[in-house]
Amino acid sequence: MNTIMSSRLKNLVLITIASAVLWGCGAGDKTVSLTANQEQQVASRIAPAGHVSMAGQVAAVVSGAVASARTGGDIYAVNCIACHSSGVAGAPVMGDVAAWSARLEQGLETVYTNAINGIRGMPMRGTCMDCSDDEVKAAVDHILDGSK
Ligand code: HEC
Repeated sequence: MNTIMSSRLKNLVLITIASAVLWGCGAGDKTVSLTANQEQQVASRIAPAGHVSMAGQVAAVVSGAVASARTGGDIYAVNCIACHSSGVAGAPVMGDVAAWSARLEQGLETVYTNAINGIRGMPMRGTCMDCSDDEVKAAVDHILDGSK
């Protein structure tokens, strides 16, 4: 009885191993039949996360370059106009030559710095938190150009 059981068990084990080997070969054949393009797709799907985030970083750098292509006028229209077209909270209004020439008496660099860091009712970067310093300066230049 025990011998029969153990020989059946052996057979079962052998069959399991054999089918695993056969299945394995089958899978191997399928891999070989992939086209180069498919292999590339599989490779990119199973690529380590590091590669994926590197691709993301490149995309971020590229979109950063696109963002820095915003003009001072673009930034003004999105971030500054709400306060500087109406004078909210005492904001000097664009086009008000006297108000802006008074501001410029402290020097252009100080005006830039105050726009970047914020001063009193003027929020830091005029709320354009993804603006570079140069972009904030470009928006200031836009306001000053329209206030001569
Ligand atoms: C929430 C309203 C608000 C927004 C938005 C805003 N400003 Fe202002 N800004 C002010 C106020 C108020 C002042 C006056 C602050 C003071 O001198 O008391 C001011 C002052 C300034 C000054 C003069 C600083 C100085 O040295 O006298 C500049 C330049 C300026 N803003 C640029 C900008 C730019 C550029 C943007 C958009 C990127 C912007 N502001 C967005 C409210 C705003």
